[in-house]
Amino acid sequence: MNSMSNTHSALAAQLDFFDNQHPPKSDFMHDVLTGFALPTKSVPPKYFYDQAGSALFDQITEVPEYYVTRTELALLDRIAPLLAQRAGPGAVVVEPGSGSSLKIRKLLDALHDPAGYVGLDISENHLIAACADLADDYPDLNIGAICADFTAGLHLDHLPLPDGRRVIFFPGSTIGNFEPEAARDVLRAFREGMRPGDAVLIGADRVKEPEMLVAAYDDSMGVTAAFNLNLLTHINTAMGADIDVSNFKHIALWNAERERIEMHLEAQSDTAFTIAGQSFSMTAGERLHTENSHKFTPESFDKLASDAGFDRIQTWSDGADLFSLHWLEPSA
Ligand code: AVJ
Repeated sequence: MNSMSNTHSALAAQLDFFDNQHPPKSDFMHDVLTGFALPTKSVPPKYFYDQAGSALFDQITEVPEYYVTRTELALLDRIAPLLAQRAGPGAVVVEPGSGSSLKIRKLLDALHDPAGYVGLDISENHLIAACADLADDYPDLNIGAICADFTAGLHLDHLPLPDGRRVIFFPGSTIGNFEPEAARDVLRAFREGMRPGDAVLIGADRVKEPEMLVAAYDDSMGVTAAFNLNLLTHINTAMGADIDVSNFKHIALWNAERERIEMHLEAQSDTAFTIAGQSFSMTAGERLHTENSHKFTPESFDKLASDAGFDRIQTWSDGADLFSLHWLEPSA
């Protein structure tokens, strides 16, 4: 890959940074002001991931109740040879929302001579650090880093990518963060630039007993609570807001009808604050909706995939059917 805008001098020789799609900072402020003006206040979960939030998420993946990450990692280990077979040699791996360094290493280690890797992430610092680490560990791999919001599409066409089958790697059940229509649109946006034979390897968490699900999002050490509350701290520091974080309580609940875990932040008493000069108030018990984490049945996942224009070629699950990885290819 040739360098288009190598602004980071410390980057390894085979790592290119494409910052031309850098999401404007005002998106965050705009989304927060819009979300706090809604009848049910809400903020998109992508804003959890400032530096502190990303570190807290990494901690979540290690609490005993959060089975998601360790189940997916073990599954990746188990099916590594099958993934190598499916992908073939010389694949180019594209990872939207590339926060998770361990999973991508498992995939790259599994594949036969991967030709390239492209990470896309909304957080520039996290992205550069993760891709630079990867460059250290995979000195023969061409690596591209795109600072972008993948919900706006992957926009790979202008990149000097090696030829070879593209495998879009979307692990972690991040797709569950989106409401059904938005999830379909995210997958449709992935499909946009795909050629026949390209594939999506996607992780999807499964519907299971609500007790297990709620515990995973309300761990006894309080890491998920700290992760949720950090959103308010992020808002306070990023836009000079004065929300009293200590007045909010972390809530995780199972919405059976919509088959999703919801996270909220509940005001414990009447409270008022300003965000970017605008005044807001919340009454005791009022909630800010911060995240949906949709869980899938085989049927609901199939519907999502086919609505987005994909054939589900193969699915792998752990022995307890907690979590699944799916291999999708664009339908003809
Ligand atoms: C990163 C979206 C997959 O929904 O399980 C973990 C985020 N939130 N604990 C998830 C999350 C609270 C996570 N995803």
